[in-house]
Amino acid sequence: MCGIVGVLGDHEAAPILVEALKRLEYRGYDSAGIATVNSGVLDRRRAVGKLVNLSDLLVHEPLPGKSGIGHTRWATHGAPTVTNAHPHRAGQVAVVHNGIIENFRDLRAELAAKGATFVTETDTETVALLTEQHMKEGLGPVDAVYRTLDRLEGAFALAFLFEGEDDLIVAARKGSPLAIGHGDGEMYVGSDAIALAPLTNRITYLEEGDRAVLTRTSLEIRDAHGSIANRKMREIAIGSTRIDKGGHKHFMAKEIAEQPNVLADALSHYLPIADDTISLPGKGIDFTKIERLTMVACGTAFYACLTAKYWFEQIAKLPVEVDVASEFRYREPPVSANTLALFVSQSGETADTLAALRYCEGKARQIVSVINVPESSIARESDLALPIHAGVEVGVASTKAFTCQLSVLLLLALKAAADRGTLSAEELADHISALRSLPSHLNAALDEEDAIRRAALSLSEARDVLFLGRGQMYPLALEGALKLKEISYIHAEGYASGELKHGPIALIDKHMPVVVMAPRDELFDKTVSNMQEVMARKGKVVLISDIEGINEASEGVWSVIRMPSVPHVLAPILYAVPAQLLAYHTAVAKGTDVDQPRNLAKSVTVE
Ligand code: AGP
Repeated sequence: MCGIVGVLGDHEAAPILVEALKRLEYRGYDSAGIATVNSGVLDRRRAVGKLVNLSDLLVHEPLPGKSGIGHTRWATHGAPTVTNAHPHRAGQVAVVHNGIIENFRDLRAELAAKGATFVTETDTETVALLTEQHMKEGLGPVDAVYRTLDRLEGAFALAFLFEGEDDLIVAARKGSPLAIGHGDGEMYVGSDAIALAPLTNRITYLEEGDRAVLTRTSLEIRDAHGSIANRKMREIAIGSTRIDKGGHKHFMAKEIAEQPNVLADALSHYLPIADDTISLPGKGIDFTKIERLTMVACGTAFYACLTAKYWFEQIAKLPVEVDVASEFRYREPPVSANTLALFVSQSGETADTLAALRYCEGKARQIVSVINVPESSIARESDLALPIHAGVEVGVASTKAFTCQLSVLLLLALKAAADRGTLSAEELADHISALRSLPSHLNAALDEEDAIRRAALSLSEARDVLFLGRGQMYPLALEGALKLKEISYIHAEGYASGELKHGPIALIDKHMPVVVMAPRDELFDKTVSNMQEVMARKGKVVLISDIEGINEASEGVWSVIRMPSVPHVLAPILYAVPAQLLAYHTAVAKGTDVDQPRNLAKSVTVE
């Protein structure tokens, strides 16, 4: 996905746009560009690669003007080149776009038949050409855009700028988020509040299908039916949008390190100090009315759901189905009226997860989301949104959001158990007490960073890595593999330990590191057998366990990472830390771009 921004200001727009794009780079960084209107003259500057390349270009080729739009791109249609970089322009129209126009080929053919010529491979160029076409037919800028919007199919957040119009931006959202920022005699538009935080904390979020006309002193929003829509202006807590590395080399390092504090804060929103109860916002969830739980997510959030499946089924005896959103939405599974549909998403904007949520509307008894952005689309379309309070997560590889997701999901499983009578008040109190101790255990895990860094140095020379886990640690093996592959580019797979003999053991030789995530729990002995099978074939085992497990089974292993001993139920949350640090230090050793790994974006708002 991409980041878009626009400003109608009292100062030169270029530096403001670039600063806002820096805060949106986590959404994509294949290319970047801006356009401004200066005394009616529309012009652009674009550069391929990271935003710094655009900044360098602007030093040599300044772009004057106090009205402008900007874009940072994650390529969907067309290679990352300057030609394909946004803003796209057709005559007097410039546009920036986040999303995918699904019918752009039909529109392209229609425009070509009218003599239009194309210079890019992108869907967005079609939007500019169509709008220009409408203006040639006599429509003004706003009506020309509205006529274009009526022709578009797919997902888009758009911002338009026009030759001759120094005080006009037209914006629209359908399927991709868009926020309007209110300044003093200035107006802004951006993909999220983070981008606009240095400019204003007064934000109006466009709703699905909205279109907006901005001038420096006015904002008119119309809904999908063309009626005037009064959308609420909110004051966003600037602290929640502050982004800096806090002295760390990378955002990911900072976000790993702050987990104890962040998690303590997250838990405090759900665990009143006064007693051992779990407090959910709004109308909460009555699990006595729920007979089945369906959890849907993508990537790391999906692994959080897979982990929570063990908790809901083992503690609350509640049947659970878990699926990746991209499969769920097309599988069209039956969803009964006594089903709780739960969607987990850090960004709250993942297209597949949002589509899966919409599939459940009108079917499930209650739609609940576990999100990190309370104003996000998924949050706003849920019956109940449960914030994880992780703070802004900039690193593309999700870390603190994952442990906060797990903590909130564990709280929900405990609430379900209490409602369903499978957990006594005393047992609930014990679990809550264990959760309250989690931040200190996370600190102990972080103290093992040197040992983890040493193991990572060895790992960084591998071509392939296997992660193994059993029971509730199996999803952690999947998450460990995802972390490693997405930032170090080393191929890694997560497997249930018990599956080793059903094929993957064929991969084992002296070149294959195998990371075993195994606290000393009731499944430990089974996992030790798997470790022996690996080492018997010269496989190199990295054992992540507690002191009991290490004392019992670390003989002959390649490397040991010690975790504190914790109550069994907390192990998946705790072992996320070594998985994160192992990936981080491997990537640093390999010199890859830790915070902005190649080909990725922080939130995938396109299918
Ligand atoms: C995780 O490290 C990845 N960045 C990715 O798998 C991510 O978890 C996934 O895209 C889901 O994003 P969401 O939580 O914002 O929906």
